[in-house]
Amino acid sequence: FYGECSWFVHNQKYNKAEKMRCIQMNSGLKIVTIGGGSSYTPELIEGFIKYYDELPVSEIWLVDVEAGKEKLEIVGSLAKRMVQKAGVPIEIHLTLDRKEALVGADFVTTQFRVGLLDARGKDEGIPLKHGVLGQETNGPGGLFKALRTIPVILDICKEMEEVCPDAWLINFTNPAGMVTEAVLRYSNINKVVGLCNVPIGMEMGVAKLLDVEHSRVRIDFAGLNHMVFGLDVYVDGVSVKDQVISMITDPDKSITMQNIHAMGWEPEFLQALNVFPCPYHNYYYKAGDMLEKELKNYNDGGTRAQVVKQLEDELFELYKDPELAIKPPQLEKRGGAYYSDAAVRLIHSMYTDKRDIQPVNTMNRGAIASMPFDSAVEVSCIITKDGPKPLVMGDLPVAVKGLVQQIKSFEQVSIEAAVTGDYGKALLAMTINPLVPSDRVAKMILDEMLEAHKEYLPQFDRELSPSL
Ligand code: G6P
Repeated sequence: FYGECSWFVHNQKYNKAEKMRCIQMNSGLKIVTIGGGSSYTPELIEGFIKYYDELPVSEIWLVDVEAGKEKLEIVGSLAKRMVQKAGVPIEIHLTLDRKEALVGADFVTTQFRVGLLDARGKDEGIPLKHGVLGQETNGPGGLFKALRTIPVILDICKEMEEVCPDAWLINFTNPAGMVTEAVLRYSNINKVVGLCNVPIGMEMGVAKLLDVEHSRVRIDFAGLNHMVFGLDVYVDGVSVKDQVISMITDPDKSITMQNIHAMGWEPEFLQALNVFPCPYHNYYYKAGDMLEKELKNYNDGGTRAQVVKQLEDELFELYKDPELAIKPPQLEKRGGAYYSDAAVRLIHSMYTDKRDIQPVNTMNRGAIASMPFDSAVEVSCIITKDGPKPLVMGDLPVAVKGLVQQIKSFEQVSIEAAVTGDYGKALLAMTINPLVPSDRVAKMILDEMLEAHKEYLPQFDRELSPSL
């Protein structure tokens, strides 16, 4: 894969710096990161630095919007210091001009939040006021995040078609499953992969629990984003599922993310379920307990959005330090910690046609029997230069299939609402969400959220509730 540099790289006359320069000049990759002002950017930069010898990235373009300009400059300067300290010849560019940045990109990564953290506060807080979990990805909050995000991702796809039609879109923007499916269904971009840190977090959690190297752990993943199950868990190819299931019932050994409070599981329940749940299943199998906890937090000072705002303020203060030239460990307090491992390992495997197994969001194509063929699922795939090839997982166990299908219906109706701006579809999506108790409550939450977010929902301008 060194291409033009093959002869040069294998010639002992030249030193490493000269070889690297040749790779950079001849096959350097252009990465464009939309939402580049995010506090997570140092994660990504650290990943590209770590893999530089095998993944010759020559340019990273960090793109943001006017409202994120200050953050873009702060995190962009840190990114420049990080590559300089690491001694890798990656150029960092900062821009507010998305289309200009996209020209000739090889990989486009997306990590933006339409409406910033204020919008997240509303996604989480408004449902809670009505006694309903907001859940900013698969719950009522997720519906609104989708309504705001999908039109923007479809605009990005149109620009990609024009200026970088061969690029791969690697989407981390939540709700990652819905965003990926929206691209597959409503854009001309087929080269899209949705990525999340939950599966890699589950793998790392198992590795820690069993005190083995992460590389020895493999999980057969099947489901949807934030609704994924480990159908089997292996260390060195030998199933350890029963052992893992019995260990994680203990709250102290729960495998979770920083943003989800783990409470452990009823041992008999988990044994009967007989698959490894992801941390987001706490919202569905422990809805009452989670609601109580989130209501308490909300009344004591706010939702996760407020916690994250404070964490972000602290992080950006650190990022401003001209002496800082590494990803600060404090970033690990964010729920998306280690997503660079997932992102860069994916891009690396695609670039090198590695054909290893990784869990991603991609079109089902029959991999999970009772999910629609042309719908996005989160599933273990073989990662090739032509994209992820899903592994056939068979069917989901009957006890979990219904919930996964219900969330898939919620996702599909939400996507249609986002694309059409149809009030009825939005109400339908809200009402069929398993966290919402009735059509009446759904309508109250929907109307309040449509009003609160209207600045970011131009597609709904003409379509407010008939009774408003
Ligand atoms: C998890 C999810 C991500 C999500 C993040 C939120 O890790 O997988 O999709 O963005 O948590 O974390 P935060 O620190 O923003 O609450």
